[in-house]
Amino acid sequence: MHVSYTDEQNMIRSMVRDFAKNEIEPTAALRDEEERFDRALFDKMGEIGLTGIPWPEKYGGLASDFITYAIVVEELSRVCASTGVMLSVHTSLASWAIYKYGTEAQKLQFLRPLAEGKKLGAYSLTESGSGSDAGAMRTTAKKDGDSYVLNGSKLFVTNGGEAEVYIVFAMTDMQQRQKGCSAFIVEKGAAGFIFGNKEKKLGIRSSPTIEMRFENCRVPAENLLGQEGEGFRIAMRSLDGGRIGIAAQALGISQGAMDASISYAKERSQFGKPIGKQQAIAFKIADMATKIEAARLLTYQAAWRESKGLTYGKEAAIAKLFASDTAVQVSIEAVQIFGGYGYTKDFPVERYLRDAKVTQIYEGTNEIQRLVISRMLLAD
Ligand code: CAA
Repeated sequence: MHVSYTDEQNMIRSMVRDFAKNEIEPTAALRDEEERFDRALFDKMGEIGLTGIPWPEKYGGLASDFITYAIVVEELSRVCASTGVMLSVHTSLASWAIYKYGTEAQKLQFLRPLAEGKKLGAYSLTESGSGSDAGAMRTTAKKDGDSYVLNGSKLFVTNGGEAEVYIVFAMTDMQQRQKGCSAFIVEKGAAGFIFGNKEKKLGIRSSPTIEMRFENCRVPAENLLGQEGEGFRIAMRSLDGGRIGIAAQALGISQGAMDASISYAKERSQFGKPIGKQQAIAFKIADMATKIEAARLLTYQAAWRESKGLTYGKEAAIAKLFASDTAVQVSIEAVQIFGGYGYTKDFPVERYLRDAKVTQIYEGTNEIQRLVISRMLLAD
């Protein structure tokens, strides 16, 4: 493994760090409080090329790679994890599926506006009865002439309601379980495509998470992504890359929580000296830094493997598992370092803690990551 950043990646990190500080951070606490998604932030990200980082220029992208993409998600999440996951789902789930499985016509029609930041993407797999057991979904898609008719409901859709382009998984043949699942590109505004309740959540509160329903929703047959029956594989392969995004999001949360802790430890005095000069706090910060460094290496190792065309499913699962556990542990310790103040909304560390928790849950719970990792290691 040779993970190192190019000059261009270092330049993008520095540019995104400034962008995040000036444009995202000032409203992060208020958007969290008001549970408010701000589309203008996505538009600004589109203007500076962040909405299509890995895709070729002919599809409106930056022609960069997954390492750069992870850098951007990390830097955004360092100040606002809701913004980090918005870009992660848009890029490595929704856009990725079209880039890898779309026809040329689908790429020009859907990937290009996603990459240019003119449209926002979402990905819809989960249902009330199929979370970890993704293959148990009940939403159906029946071929009827030159369209498919979708019926059923989906849950926990990140960017839901706000996005214009949805990758939706539905069963074209219920008897065949995973092999009867197909993927579709569904556009906001399609008749019978109905947005339901918005979830009220513990964290990432400025990222919308909604229910959706399909009531005889007609999707043009040319919006089938890949082949009929290929949907489960598309879902799983998208999640392999998506988990790199969530690992980067968790890494950014951890880094943000540690940065805040270090500043506070230098300023806050108790017993006549800064708390950072006291071993109880100094060692907590050393432990944070150690875990964050390990999470960073795992995350960029997975991104590097993807960018080199190597297998990366196991490495992405390992990175997501470790980085998300790190985010929870680091943000708990950050709240502890801030003491009573850490438990209030006067400082961002309570938000980091609330935001960190979901990284152990979405894009496959950490129990599912252990399943993915162990199955690969123990396969015949
Ligand atoms: N790449 C390619 N193919 C894969 C694959 C992968 N990563 N993983 C599985 N497959 C294939 C298998 O090879 C198999 O194909 P064959 O039958 O041809 O051999 C087929 O898919 C079925 O695989 P499994 O037998 O492993 O399927 P399973 O039902 O036992 O379970 C699972 C697989 C890993 C548990 C899967 O259901 C899973 O990942 N569950 C978690 C779902 C998840 O992550 N949801 C996240 C929702 S999206 C989200 O959270 C986004 C957000 O909001 C931020």
